[in-house]
Amino acid sequence: MNRLTTKRYALVAFSILGCLLLVLSISVQASGQAKPKDTAILKGSPLGGVKFEHKLHQERAANKCETCHHASKPEKPLKAPQQACMECHTKAAQAPMKTGLPATFHNPAAQAGTCIDCHKAENAKGKKAPVGKCMDCHKKENV
Ligand code: HEC
Ligand code: HEC
Ligand code: HEC
Ligand code: HEC
Repeated sequence: MNRLTTKRYALVAFSILGCLLLVLSISVQASGQAKPKDTAILKGSPLGGVKFEHKLHQERAANKCETCHHASKPEKPLKAPQQACMECHTKAAQAPMKTGLPATFHNPAAQAGTCIDCHKAENAKGKKAPVGKCMDCHKKENV
């Protein structure tokens, strides 16, 4: 093997390695998931924004993410395992979606739903999680 062919082999090897790295970085990006903020302000209601303690709630749900983040559904499949609710659930549901706001989080009297079912169960065990009283969650100062 002369020096020139060795150089060529090295060049080819580096090109292949480069391509592999590129493919790897693209696939990592595609599967990459936004990290949840410790605290999020969920906005939309004219009653005011809802300050949601994500980190605390993860612990309260014993790290069972699916308590709130449901599995992918055929009408509108998930793009990421815990995609933001409002990317699919808009104010007034648009076909094929049926569940708009507030139904994504609670029924009209805030006596049942994603957030309230657990609050009721926890309150039965002596906790003080908001149920029914709109202003315990919706506050004008949450912007
Ligand atoms: C008590 C309900 C609840 C639990 C439990 C929960 N989440 Fe969330 N999560 C939410 C809500 C509500 C949002 C805000 C969505 C929005 O902005 O529309 C959110 C947002 C997120 C986001 C940001 C999405 C985005 O693109 O902005 C990620 C990532 C996430 N959660 C991951 C997790 C993981 C991982 C777990 C389990 C360890 C988990 N969540 C448990 C309710 C919950
Ligand atoms: C990728 C889109 C998508 C995301 C993101 C999403 N959903 Fe859904 N969700 C659906 C679809 C599709 C349905 C079924 C059709 C309908 O009810 O609109 C549904 C239904 C629901 C329902 C009605 C009851 C049921 O299970 O059928 C609730 C409540 C709900 N979602 C809550 C949430 C919450 C809370 C979040 C965020 C933590 C969330 N969804 C994120 C697509 C999504
Ligand atoms: C797995 C059970 C569970 C679920 C699901 C849940 N919560 Fe909670 N939440 C709690 C508990 C427990 C408390 C704290 C009660 C106490 O110790 O005073 C709480 C308290 C709160 C509080 C008062 C401030 C705080 O964080 O201590 C708000 C606001 C709140 N939850 C909003 C929500 C919203 C919005 C959702 C739905 C996206 C939700 N919760 C879903 C268990 C839950
Ligand atoms: C456990 C917390 C909690 C309680 C209690 C609660 N809500 Fe909500 N509500 C939310 C969350 C989270 C959303 C989604 C974010 C938003 O739209 O502001 C929401 C959304 C809504 C929306 C939809 C707003 C829109 O964009 O169209 C209405 C209307 C609403 N709530 C009314 C009420 C009323 C009325 C009460 C009292 C009977 C109440 N809520 C009690 C958490 C709560």
